[in-house]
Amino acid sequence: MVEPIISPSILASNFADLGCSCKRVVDTGDVDWLHLDVMDGHFVPNISFGPPVIESLRKQFPRDSNKPIVFDCHMMVSDPEEWIEAIAKAGGDSYTFHYEATKDPASVIAKIKKHGLKAAMGIKPNTPIDVVYPFADDLDMVLVMTVEPGFGGQKFMADMMPKVETLRQKYPHLNIEVDGGLGKDTVKPAAVAGANVIVAGTSVFKAENPKEVTQFLKKTVEESILARSK
Ligand code: DX5
Ligand code: ZN
Repeated sequence: MVEPIISPSILASNFADLGCSCKRVVDTGDVDWLHLDVMDGHFVPNISFGPPVIESLRKQFPRDSNKPIVFDCHMMVSDPEEWIEAIAKAGGDSYTFHYEATKDPASVIAKIKKHGLKAAMGIKPNTPIDVVYPFADDLDMVLVMTVEPGFGGQKFMADMMPKVETLRQKYPHLNIEVDGGLGKDTVKPAAVAGANVIVAGTSVFKAENPKEVTQFLKKTVEESILARSK
């Protein structure tokens, strides 16, 4: 059975006060991962941050603490092979590359694993789900984008849910992540379709009471996982 995981996207944090901003969200107790959106200005029309910021953030959340936080690195970059080593060194745990960014997903996956990272593949909204099937057995997670990658605060695309549903039916034990526009109003269809890893930027970081949101998200995913196991 998969676990319910909430992975707040730091893209919606206050970058001038990144450590405190993240601590506020991690202190909810519902957050096991942080979602780190790396953008290179080529694969997506935006630039965010890279390995140096991840390295600083890792010092704030050391691996040897009693609750280590998984750094879920979403690499919106044109050349995914290029950054694997740097992300591993900076303290990343999971490396999500985009199917659309490479001609050779298998070799990207092999290199990610060689560097001791979990391997995940993401697909943009216009990419069909069947492209992941040849690689699924070698992946720790598949990311189904629910907005066009590049910016936070966009509207959740509910029409991506059939992709999640099909993937969940085929792979009951795979981590399936959804990213973009997720919050209290949209988590239910994603959870029912079979997503167990919920990325949430705006809805968590901009909340007056983040705990209220993270708890709701986690509980909703938990209920769907239980319902499927019956
Ligand atoms: C978009 C990023 C997302 C984004 C989500 O390109 O991949 O992770 O930060 O932000 P919200 O939750 O605000 O849509
Ligand atoms: Zn993301």
